[in-house]
Amino acid sequence: MSNLLKLVAPSDHTVRRRETAVDTLTMGVAPGKPSLITLPHPEGSRSVRASALVFEDPTSVSLLQRIQRVAPSEANVLIIGDTGTGKELIARHVHALSQRRKEPFVAVNCGALSETLAEGELFGHEKGAFTSACRAKTGWFETANGGTLFLDEIGDLSLNIQVKLLRVLQEREVVRVGSCSPVPINVRLIAATNVRLEEAVLAGNFREDLFYRLQVVRLALAPLRERPGDILPLVHYFVDQYSQRLGLGQVTIAPATEAKLLAHAWPGNIRELENAIHHGLLVAQNGVLRPEDVHLFSFLSARAAEVATAAPRETSQAVAQIQQALPTLFGENHGALYEHIEGIVLNAAYEYCHCNQVQAARLLGISRNVIRARLIKQGIISALK
Ligand SMILES: Nc1ncnc2c1ncn2[C@@H]1O[C@H](COP(=O)(O)OP(=O)(O)OP(=O)(O)O)[C@@H](O)[C@H]1O
Ligand SMILES: [Mg+2]
Repeated sequence: MSNLLKLVAPSDHTVRRRETAVDTLTMGVAPGKPSLITLPHPEGSRSVRASALVFEDPTSVSLLQRIQRVAPSEANVLIIGDTGTGKELIARHVHALSQRRKEPFVAVNCGALSETLAEGELFGHEKGAFTSACRAKTGWFETANGGTLFLDEIGDLSLNIQVKLLRVLQEREVVRVGSCSPVPINVRLIAATNVRLEEAVLAGNFREDLFYRLQVVRLALAPLRERPGDILPLVHYFVDQYSQRLGLGQVTIAPATEAKLLAHAWPGNIRELENAIHHGLLVAQNGVLRPEDVHLFSFLSARAAEVATAAPRETSQAVAQIQQALPTLFGENHGALYEHIEGIVLNAAYEYCHCNQVQAARLLGISRNVIRARLIKQGIISALK
């Protein structure tokens, strides 16, 4: 059985909102809607996004079968998976298999919505509703009416917006900011997150009632290293796609290259694999992709290697130094000593990870939501970041 599924090409209604310069450059902007970026067909994007799903590993095949069973229902879906595992692609696939396939699919990245603008962006606003509202604006819910609204990085929504979202889901209507008249809404919601929302619920950063409303169907995407049977089929798929795009003709993959790709841990998942193949083909010579053409650097694995190769003695020495310093700190009678030390640890980890919250959270073994809340509380980042 071939598990290479051709996806239904997105309809002209397909809209998405991205914060990356690459996508903004390659897509058209819909007239009269400066923040609405359209992707009329898959070729509009630099990646080979949304043209096919490669699923060969048994884990992926059983997920795919589950998707086929649940997609035609109207149930809200929560997709969970690490960065680059294909959450958006799965959301598009669910839409393509649903009764709503001819209606709009609207993708919104909640992480890119600032706290102040989120309400107007999602639910729309009337002219004059706030200082910068010089004309009325349709929100993403209204734009997606009849179709599917994909809310990516849902864990980044503030508690204030979570309450409003819950209300919209319960009442099935939106009220634009500055208006009193509700607009009926018929939208299927698909949300995605790369953080464990359960932890965010426990930490008080995500509403439990909203969590249950969102995850009527829960689809968990495994990291690529846990579905090794997908690696080579994906490699062959991306080699075919990119060699065609680059006009390279037939490209052979050397057996040593396959071995190298199979041995990698893929912390950036399928996106990392896609980029590695794209780059490899740009430098490959004589129609052969050799191991040295494929660069598998990754920030996370470099850091992990650094930590792993650091002498264990050094680590225990460092811990001993902290333990020795503690009595002195206790003697200083700080008052809020715990908060103070937590601030020092958070600040150091955040700087060590070049201000990357996801990586700093991993370093400390806590969730992205928890670290974000803590960084805000400690005044290290602002609530708007
Ligand atoms: N099963 C798959 N078959 C083919 N291509 C895939 C597959 N899964 C993901 N991709 C490709 O990998 C890239 C990343 O996928 P996608 O954007 O859906 O991931 P994501 O989980 O939403 O990432 P992020 O967490 O960073 O938002 C895209 O170019 C997508 O087309
Ligand atoms: Mg995504």
